[in-house]
Parts: sequence; structure tokens; C-alpha cells
Amino acid sequence: MHSVDPTTEQMIRAVLAYAENRLRLDPVPLDGGNPDQAVLDGALTGLLGDEPHNPDQVLGAYTSVVAPAVISADSPRFLGFIPAAPTKASLLFDMLVSCASIQGISWLEAAGAIRAENLVLRLIADRAGLPTQAGGCFVSGGSAANLSALVVAREVAKRKAAGAAPPGGRRLRAVVSADAHSSITSTLRILEMDALIVTTGDHRLTGPALRAAIEADGDPASLAVVVATAGTTNAGIIDDLAGAAAVAREHGLWFHVDGAYGGAGLFAPSVRRAYDGIEHADSFVLDPHKWLFAPFDCAALLYRDPALARSVHKQDASYLDVIHSDPAQWNPTDYAYHLTRRARGLPLWFSLSVHGVSAYTQAIETAIRLAGRAAAEIGKRGYLELIREPDLGIVLFRRTGWTDAQYTDWADGLLRDQVAFIPPSAWEGETVARFAFLHPHTSMDLVREILDRMG
Ligand SMILES: Cc1ncc(COP(=O)(O)O)c(C=O)c1O
Repeated sequence: MHSVDPTTEQMIRAVLAYAENRLRLDPVPLDGGNPDQAVLDGALTGLLGDEPHNPDQVLGAYTSVVAPAVISADSPRFLGFIPAAPTKASLLFDMLVSCASIQGISWLEAAGAIRAENLVLRLIADRAGLPTQAGGCFVSGGSAANLSALVVAREVAKRKAAGAAPPGGRRLRAVVSADAHSSITSTLRILEMDALIVTTGDHRLTGPALRAAIEADGDPASLAVVVATAGTTNAGIIDDLAGAAAVAREHGLWFHVDGAYGGAGLFAPSVRRAYDGIEHADSFVLDPHKWLFAPFDCAALLYRDPALARSVHKQDASYLDVIHSDPAQWNPTDYAYHLTRRARGLPLWFSLSVHGVSAYTQAIETAIRLAGRAAAEIGKRGYLELIREPDLGIVLFRRTGWTDAQYTDWADGLLRDQVAFIPPSAWEGETVARFAFLHPHTSMDLVREILDRMG
């Protein structure tokens, strides 16, 4: 298994040939039939057992049955949820990172990889206007990043409260918008925190709404953190970050900004002003596996004061003392809830270095422009209604008179015909249609074709 024998040679040729073909797909097709589980089991049953199998047979099961049953999130026709659009460079380098088995825990083990990753984190921190001491690490996704950041927020609040009047069994709370991502709700459940939910008419958290909610609240002393979103998942709304930051500061609360989806807009001059105030974040999350065109899985987690995060997340064990012997050395493990970690920032580092940041700016601007053009196209059609002008790459709209079932039939038909993956969403309790534009090769012709099929 660990030597280079004829079977290894055979696998190298076959797997790399498959990877090469996949990399050369341009455009990546949508794929994703929804076969019966019996079909999958028919091909897979028996492969896992005590006896070996010829690698060509196993790869054959993958290519003929497994892969076609996966919708390609990196297809320009994938317009649901939050798509992916990893650059070819990042995909290639991801293979290299896998082959190199880089253990990205500590400076001791992986100084080179960590330095390269940290330069990417610095690039993101600069775009956000975070101070020079800001830092963090790459984790698996926005959910993991939100959890790690809010753990720090909660511990900092607990430390501040120590010595004050006993909390009387009260749980700490976070002030969140009703439109915050579902991972924030999960995080609060895990942390045994409650939410003070702020609702606004246009779904955008603002400083005044936040201030009014805190002033009207009967127990402001139990608040630990304000969570704002820079690009809500369902509608792409950027909260009033400057206003939220000011209120958080007034009340001595941690200010967390979830930019897992929309944080990449920091690289787009056309919308950069909407992020003003992000420079005050105590913690900030941006998922490169979304709109910075990195492969799954990659989320950037940054702290204004990384020493606070280290004081919460650093794992102590006698066998780990060696990685902490020099306090000047940066250990990514110290900044999130993880120990072993893939150096998942490296594919982004490689691709950014190869293509240059300007290419990223252009690709992000392309999705924003496409959202604007799609909104205009919706406005031209009497049977459609735009729900709100898009801020970023997400467009919500309704087909007047349609039932939920009609939206489902329309979406199913588009996937069946390999036109697009565009599952319906909901807005204020109503089923609606939603474009999530991210891939720079999604075309206006495709948008028109999708809209025509609603007529
Ligand atoms: C705003 C926001 N936060 C958090 C997440 C969770 O990120 P992940 O799916 O990488 O865990 C998402 C995912 O879409 C998101 O849009």
C-alpha cells in the first residue's frame, strides 16, 4: 500500500488521467442525475471487504456511477445555494497539497506552508482594514469559523463578567439579525447561548435597529456579542457594519462579522463602500471556497487580537509543549477548534499568486454585474417581479401566480434538462426563485433561457 509497485503505477496513471480530464472540462457540465440508491448500491456493494480489487474496477465504479450522481457545484449552470467556482490553478494545487501530506498544525511542522497561508490571510485582513496584528487561520468552512470565533467572544465576555455580580444562572446572549446564517443559530445552541433577534423591515441589520433592540431589552448585561452579516446567504444583503460596530463598541460587546459568502466583495471596488465599518470587527469570516474561487474546503478566520483567540483555543498537552516553546511562532491550531489541519489556504495562495489579485477582482465584479443585468431582465417581464435590488450576486424574484409546486416543477425540469440547478428559496414565508451568481462564466443567455421557462 505504501510502496511504488505496479499497482501504484497503474493507479497513478488512471487517477491522474481522470483528474486531467476533469480539469480540462470547460465548461464543467452540471451532471447530477438522482439515481435510486439501489443503483448506487449495485455498483458499490462488495467493493469494501477483506479482499482487494483491481483499481481500474474501483475507479470504474466511481466514474460510471458515483460521479454522475453528483451535481457539479463548479458548473456555471449551478445557480443554487452558494455555488463554487474554483480556479483550475487552485484545483491543481489542491492535488499537490494532498500528495504532500502537509500537517498544518504548527510552525514547527509546516513553517513554509503556514507563512504562505498567513500572507493570504494578511491580504484579506488588509482588504478589510484590520490592524497589522490581526491574524487567524484557515478552517473547513464558515460554520466552523463562526463557531470558533463565537467561542472566543463568549470566553472574553465571561472573563469580563468575572468579579461582577453573579449571573444568577443566566445564559450569555448574542445580538443577531433574523437573517443571520443558520450556522450562527447552531453555534449559539452549542455554546448554550441565546439570541436577541433584531428584525428590520428590509432585512438589513442597522445601527439604530440594534441600539433600539438593546435599549428595549430587559437584560443587556447578559449580552456578549453582536453578529453582523456581510452578504446574507439568501439575499446577499450587507448589514450596516459601521452602525453595528459603533453600537457594539458603546455596549462593550464583541463585534463578529460573518462574510462567509459576501466577504469576497471586499475585493470589488463597485461595492467596497458597503463594507465600511468592517475594519472594527473583532472577528471576521470569509469563505474562499465560495467567492474567492478556492476548492472545498476553505474558510478564512481572522481576529483583531489573535492573542485572545490563542488564550481560548490553544490546546495544552505534554506532547504539544514543543510547538509552543517559542511564543513568536505562529501555530494555526491555536486559533480555532481544531488540531490536525490540512494546509487548505495553499491552493488559494498558489492561484492568487499565479493570476494576480486583479483577476479575482474582475471575476467577482462579473457576478455582481450579472446579478444587475438579471434583475433588469426580470423587470422587463410582466410575469416576474423582482423582490429587491441585488447588493451582490444573489437575485430573488417571484413568478406571479405560481404555487409552490410550480416552482418545484420548473426547477426539476431545468435540472432534468441539464439547463441549470436553481432550487426555489423562500422570502417572508413565500416560495420564490433565486439566482446565486458566482461563476464568472455564467452567461446572460442562460439567464434568459431560465426566465423564458417561467413564461
Ligand atoms: C453567511 C454565511 N455564513 C456561514 C455559512 C456557512 O459556511 P459553510 O457552509 O462553509 O460552513 C454560509 C454558507 O453558505 C453563509 O452564507
